[in-house]
Amino acid sequence: MFLTLVVSGGVSSRDQNWLSRLKEWVGHGKRILVAAGDGVRHNAPYHATNNFGPTRKEAAMSSFPTQQVRVHIRWMIRRDMEEVLSIEQHSFEFPWFEEDFIRCLRQRNCIGMVAEHGERVVGFMIYELHKTRLHILNFAVAPEFRRRDVGRQMVDKLVSKLSSQRRTRITLEVRETNLPAQLFFKQLGFRATMVLRSFYEDSPEDAYMMQFRHVPAALPELPAANRIDRLAG
Ligand SMILES: CC(C)(COP(=O)(O)OP(=O)(O)OC[C@H]1O[C@@H](n2cnc3c(N)ncnc32)[C@H](O)[C@@H]1OP(=O)(O)O)[C@@H](O)C(=O)NCCC(=O)NCCS
Repeated sequence: MFLTLVVSGGVSSRDQNWLSRLKEWVGHGKRILVAAGDGVRHNAPYHATNNFGPTRKEAAMSSFPTQQVRVHIRWMIRRDMEEVLSIEQHSFEFPWFEEDFIRCLRQRNCIGMVAEHGERVVGFMIYELHKTRLHILNFAVAPEFRRRDVGRQMVDKLVSKLSSQRRTRITLEVRETNLPAQLFFKQLGFRATMVLRSFYEDSPEDAYMMQFRHVPAALPELPAANRIDRLAG
């Protein structure tokens, strides 16, 4: 059985490293093929829809790092829906529709946030609050704003909500073919923890569960209080 990875913008040596790690996780005799072309695949809500790559032009644009932008991250409101839907449609082959967003955001534990640059919504994320973790259901950046640090700022926002006492992890499922997203989350400290076989209803592909773990800030070292402490190093 083959596992096909579709990569936009070529595979760098850093990506090769990641691919070797991927091969180790997947194991099970699968061979990994790396193909050039449209890259992005997405986690589906409740095993539902959503799967798309950017157009070749967008993929080419997104593979050239440009100037970083600062974004303001705030709660999503009804008025944002048009821009959010546009980003969604330009990001996934099987995008969520407005009803999917509304159904999801009606749940008490479901949160929507947008990243705003000037007057424009340039990214969004939908996530669920669980007792000990945050679970990302949908996450995308407008194609022309990719590789400009927007995604990183959105993840930072989520990470800032973790604590040792309460929610200690962020989890998500990513399609096995969505190498750009895997590389993105890996770069931000997420690690693949599980392969979810035939996870999606719209395609036979598997998903990787990825997880970020909160690392408590190290306590400052106190000066040794007495002679015994000093001897103990
Ligand atoms: C994945 C996605 C959200 C990343 O957002 P982004 O704003 O472009 O990411 P950032 O600019 O913050 O990237 C931070 C780092 O992640 C890594 N990264 C991001 N995109 C990458 C890509 N396509 N290939 C390799 N590494 C990538 C890089 O190390 C990058 O830092 P650098 O640009 O300084 O090299 C965006 O590509 C996207 O919306 N994709 C389509 C939707 C999608 O797949 N969502 C995820 C569903 S699970």
